[in-house]
Amino acid sequence: MQYFVTSDDLTSLQTESIAVAIYDDKALSPSAEILDKASNGAIKRILETGDLTGKPGQTLFIHHLEGVSSPRVLLIGAGKADSCSENDFNTATTACAKALDSSGAQTAVSCLTDIVVKDRSVAWKARQIATNTATSQYLFTQTKPSSKRNENPLTQLSIHCSDSEVAEIGQAVERGAAIGEGMNLARNLGDLPGNVCTPSYLAEQAISIGQQYPTVTTTILEEADMEALGMGSLLSVSRGSRQPAKLITMEYKGAGDAKPVVLVGKGLTFDAGGISLKPSQGMDEMKYDMCGSASVFGTIDAIAKLGLPINVVGVVPSSENMPDGDANKPGDIVTSMAGKTIEILNTDAEGRLILCDALTYSERFDPEIVIDIATLTGAIIVALGSTTTGLMSNNQQLADDLLKAGHDSFDRAWQLPLWDDYQPLLDSNFADIANIGGKEAGSVTAACFLSRFTEKYTWAHLDIAGTAWTSGGKNKGASGRPVPMLVQYLLNRIETQN
Ligand code: BES
Ligand code: MN
Ligand code: ZN
Repeated sequence: MQYFVTSDDLTSLQTESIAVAIYDDKALSPSAEILDKASNGAIKRILETGDLTGKPGQTLFIHHLEGVSSPRVLLIGAGKADSCSENDFNTATTACAKALDSSGAQTAVSCLTDIVVKDRSVAWKARQIATNTATSQYLFTQTKPSSKRNENPLTQLSIHCSDSEVAEIGQAVERGAAIGEGMNLARNLGDLPGNVCTPSYLAEQAISIGQQYPTVTTTILEEADMEALGMGSLLSVSRGSRQPAKLITMEYKGAGDAKPVVLVGKGLTFDAGGISLKPSQGMDEMKYDMCGSASVFGTIDAIAKLGLPINVVGVVPSSENMPDGDANKPGDIVTSMAGKTIEILNTDAEGRLILCDALTYSERFDPEIVIDIATLTGAIIVALGSTTTGLMSNNQQLADDLLKAGHDSFDRAWQLPLWDDYQPLLDSNFADIANIGGKEAGSVTAACFLSRFTEKYTWAHLDIAGTAWTSGGKNKGASGRPVPMLVQYLLNRIETQN
């Protein structure tokens, strides 16, 4: 897919399709108004039929509109003229991308940047259009060869804007597309089954990202290497599996020897719960337990594609969590790389066990900031549902920066407390720390556990158990979140430092 920007006159555009917004009560967007005038009121007459009410996401193709060169005009419903929400805007632009992709048109111009979304710039809208167009073309085929792409898919999309906006919109579109492609990469990894997407498979993907971009260097640590580093906690999880664990590092260098932002992604390729076995209902979904790592892959891919001037290290501890004769047992005590002993009261709280050693390992990169991303707790889904990522941090500035990045990219998070009050819930009679904190505040105690291993740097934790995928039903699958938030965070960092 190629993206362009154009400020040319709408009526004479040489393109196979032009998409314009219409609103409730038969109101026209400025671009729809231009085409309506050129066609002596043809669009208004069509709206009089009642075929299109302006509901967000409605679509209607008109062919050979008089006075307009393009053979197709696509009308897109965008709700109320004065109050299109971000969600409505995303619904409208996604519906537009899908309609274009399944039409015969391979080239199109989108005028949906003229929809008014409160407090959002034209650049924001252009970026969302590019991201939503890229993600709407996502198709999972790797283990489903019968799923087919549209016959004449859209291959060129131009975003329409005014002359003075061309440069800014060009950059916004490039970023939006890179984010969408990074999300698609993350979704594909999340959708792959556990028997394909193993820790070794993730390691291979990281190696191929390293080969694709000269700015990315990938290193894989094997179990023997981790043993030598004293990663007793991480290795205790993989002991219950026949798949060897991997510790994957992708170093993106875009800013000489500046201190890096380290992104640590949980790469649990299948979480059966271990000896604390999960119930069978919906257990297949635990193939998504590597979505934290998938978001790190997607983010590295996006920033390498954009060539951003920043240093970022992706660290991915990857393992399965399976029941086996050699698996962790409740009550077992293991020693982490940091030297702290951990009493494993529930083998299903394995994410924190692999993350703690990866977090200790991250110290060696002398990080400016460390952010871990993990499908860590079912409790975060109870608290925030599947629309909002849980955020906890040992530094309020970092928490605020991530909340802002979430707002800016509309991939939002909400902060939960990480107060000392919760720490005693992790006390153990037999080890330095227990791996679970009991029934209450499950997401907070999980973060408290991690906080014991992040004292040496500025750190935030994103619990994406709810936001990384859509459960059950027709839309079951990985979401690619929080790639937009992470890329935005890095973009904002670059901007505020200059
Ligand atoms: N991978 C799960 C968390 C999870 C649950 C992700 C549901 C997505 C959907 C994690 O390893 C886990 O099992 N957590 C336990 C922790 C508990 C044993 C303290 C949980 O949330 O039940
Ligand atoms: Mn688990
Ligand atoms: Zn898990």
